Amino acid sequence: MSKLLKVESVSKSYKTGQKILRVFDNLSFELNKGEFLAITGVSGVGKSTLLNIVGLLDTPDSGEIELNGVRYSSLSEDEKSVFRNKHLGFVFQFHHLLPEFTVVENIAMPYLISGEGFDKGFEKAKKLAEAVGLGERLEHYPSMLSGGEQQRVAVARAIVNNPDLLLMDEPTGNLDPKTGNMVMDYVFQLKEAYNLSCIIVTHNMEIAGRCDKIFSMETLECTDV
Ligand SMILES: Nc1ncnc2c1ncn2[C@@H]1O[C@H](COP(=O)(O)OP(=O)(O)OP(=O)(O)O)[C@@H](O)[C@H]1O
Ligand SMILES: [Mg+2]
Repeated sequence: MSKLLKVESVSKSYKTGQKILRVFDNLSFELNKGEFLAITGVSGVGKSTLLNIVGLLDTPDSGEIELNGVRYSSLSEDEKSVFRNKHLGFVFQFHHLLPEFTVVENIAMPYLISGEGFDKGFEKAKKLAEAVGLGERLEHYPSMLSGGEQQRVAVARAIVNNPDLLLMDEPTGNLDPKTGNMVMDYVFQLKEAYNLSCIIVTHNMEIAGRCDKIFSMETLECTDV
């Protein structure tokens, strides 16, 4: 198995006023291509912070992260944006869809931002919308969709650029169990079909159990399932 992600001795703290909050210290783990890692842990333990650091949305105080052999510390701010768009996909707990754009436009957005051409982007977005069961909703706006449908749009948007790593922060936290499982079934299908790699922050032990590894942030241990 080839190595995809290396998180090496990463530490993060926040300074508010006179107080320093140590979120985590010397955290290390690795992920191979095609693997799914679940991150669990109580509220406030630093799961989103870690995901944001791996997703180049936040920087650690110390330590190094390497994705596909590229060291994050070697990237300028501009290079980080390009790298994020090209290699990483995000699904947040609240989908963050753009309300004034349709389903197909939302899905195509990362592709359009990367400057790859409109026609190809929309073609790809349409195929992905169909794959997540929203082929009949292409011209709908997010406000016209159910929560599960919105989250499926978010998944399609996150993978439109064929990311090397998909990052999901409690993607089903807002959904009923049946809808949540449906969204995740699709993501696990991508694992089988495209050898997708993914990190999922979740409180749902059924989802965590379907992953290859579970990283429990209470104990700061990485265990195989
Ligand atoms: N910008 C910030 N400034 C100061 N403290 C912060 C900031 N962001 C997060 N924190 C603190 O860092 C800790 C970790 O936050 P984080 O959002 O990563 O937790 P989490 O594990 O994702 O929690 P939840 O399960 O509730 O989403 C929390 O105690 C939080 O209050
Ligand atoms: Mg969080």
